[in-house]
Amino acid sequence: MQIDFEPLGIRSQGNSSTSLQESARQAGIVINALCGGLGKCGSCKIQVLDGPASAHTEAEQTLLTPDELSNGYRLACQVYPLGDIKIHIPVESLTATQRIQLESQESVVTIDPIVRNYDAFLPMPTLHDTRSDVTRLTDYLEERYGLENLSIDFELLKSVPTCLRELDWATTIGIREGEIVSLKPLGKPSLGLAVDLGTTKIAAYLVDLREGRTLASSGITNPQIAYGEDVISRIAYAMKGAKEATILSEVVITSLNELAHRLCSQSDCNVHQIEEVVIAGNTVMRHLILMLPVAQLGLAPYISADNNPLDVKAKALNLDFSPGCYIHFPPNIGGFIGSDCVAMILATSINQAKNVVLGMDIGTNTEITLKTPQQIYACSTASGPAFEGAHIRNGMRAADGAIEKVRIVGSVVEYQTIGGVAPIGLCGSGILDVVAQLFRLGIINEAGTMKDNPLVRRGKDGPEFVLVGKSAGNNKEIVITRRDIGEIQLAKGAIQAGINILLAEAGLKETDIDQVIIAGAFGSYINVDSAIAIGILPRLPPQCFNQVGNAAGMGAKIILVSNEKREQAKKIPNQVHYVDLITNSNFFQEFSKAMFLPKDITVSPNQR
Ligand code: FES
Repeated sequence: MQIDFEPLGIRSQGNSSTSLQESARQAGIVINALCGGLGKCGSCKIQVLDGPASAHTEAEQTLLTPDELSNGYRLACQVYPLGDIKIHIPVESLTATQRIQLESQESVVTIDPIVRNYDAFLPMPTLHDTRSDVTRLTDYLEERYGLENLSIDFELLKSVPTCLRELDWATTIGIREGEIVSLKPLGKPSLGLAVDLGTTKIAAYLVDLREGRTLASSGITNPQIAYGEDVISRIAYAMKGAKEATILSEVVITSLNELAHRLCSQSDCNVHQIEEVVIAGNTVMRHLILMLPVAQLGLAPYISADNNPLDVKAKALNLDFSPGCYIHFPPNIGGFIGSDCVAMILATSINQAKNVVLGMDIGTNTEITLKTPQQIYACSTASGPAFEGAHIRNGMRAADGAIEKVRIVGSVVEYQTIGGVAPIGLCGSGILDVVAQLFRLGIINEAGTMKDNPLVRRGKDGPEFVLVGKSAGNNKEIVITRRDIGEIQLAKGAIQAGINILLAEAGLKETDIDQVIIAGAFGSYINVDSAIAIGILPRLPPQCFNQVGNAAGMGAKIILVSNEKREQAKKIPNQVHYVDLITNSNFFQEFSKAMFLPKDITVSPNQR
């Protein structure tokens, strides 16, 4: 049977035993699937325009409003075609358009990459000089540059004879720790790729290794999201069997290849020129891409297979780079704190701070570090996907049409959308603003309960506040419900409890913090005032806060271009005291307390 996907204009074949979500995936269309297709999140909403389909499931009755059900809205993971069918995929259900944080504050580092390049002008073989091609190369490098005992990558060796003759014996040679890893025409740039492999997003930077300059950068949604929204559901998916574990690895590798091709074509280069790659990511992401066993990561005491830095050949992972290219994985700190946190510490120099610095990378998992003059404490807290717009009635990722800023003046709701287009939902920063505004105006109380107000009405999930009426935008109402506020309270509770436990470990209180560094995409766009108002951030003066952008990506770049910094990164895990919140006896109590919005709302130090 035939399936038409609108407004994309893509037509594919399907059958009655394949869900529309899976058929879309097979046609190259990635529909959101934050719960991995279990019918629990509602993120895969589509509209059946024409054609027969399976009956509504219980999940659809629960997650869709009566209005949506009567207008043909379905959950793509729950519905099966029963004949030729035409569906419409709303923009908020597509994963490809979200805003990815690529920028970060630049750090000054000495450019000293692990792959060094040497120009060589080799004598041609003659009847009196019958040395092999590799001996000719290594002899030259020893005589000219004093490099001894060199080896050569086996894959590269296969191309050496042809390459040297085509280049007329003049070439630039890339050497990495005594191994010849590339041969290229004289003067061709030596390229590296730095990757921040996040649970939700992947950001990549193409770098000229000789100059340390970023040539191009780009980001995409982590395609694993179609198999689960957070690390726990991805672990569960990978544990289903070898086929599923392979899928999780392959989808990321395919995306990395696509990203690299895109960046290289933007920079007029070729992916085969990429000679070194650094991938920073959380511990689970590293296990999944490498297809390491993950069962032990999902159970207490959450042990990773290996936390040491790791170098793997790109070829072994089917990455399309130079034959000798290595992928470097910086060290992890623990089962739930990975090399992205190491990269963030390196990029922000938190480890060298002389005062008390709190570092936070807010996401589905929030990594929190606390640097005191004596020690670095770190923890990871499951703040959930609410800040990505998931589990929120009209939530969506940060893409065009998402409300990102909100101000409520009297009964008027002012808002700003990404891209300046009509509103279609709320992204994390918008949700945070709404909750802060409702709290300040007394429309919700410390427990998050909504009080009577002309803008509050009774909805399917209890009280809800109407932000955008049907007359605005896409003829679509946008509301925030009591249940949505509960999701934000859960996320906020997890983060605040993490901060409080680190402060207690260090024997400090909130007012002892001199500086707060907020890293990551969500943290870059939030209104610090709103985050303080609801208690996600400590109540400190504005000059204490520094929103640094994608520090993990920046850290990966630094490790790519500076060998000295790579060595520093290797030592960071030993400087960190990892605090495991799951086994911490105070966590539950702190979390329960932190679920409440702060008592003192009269004045935020940032309020202007
Ligand atoms: S409800 Fe369909 S993917 Fe979650």
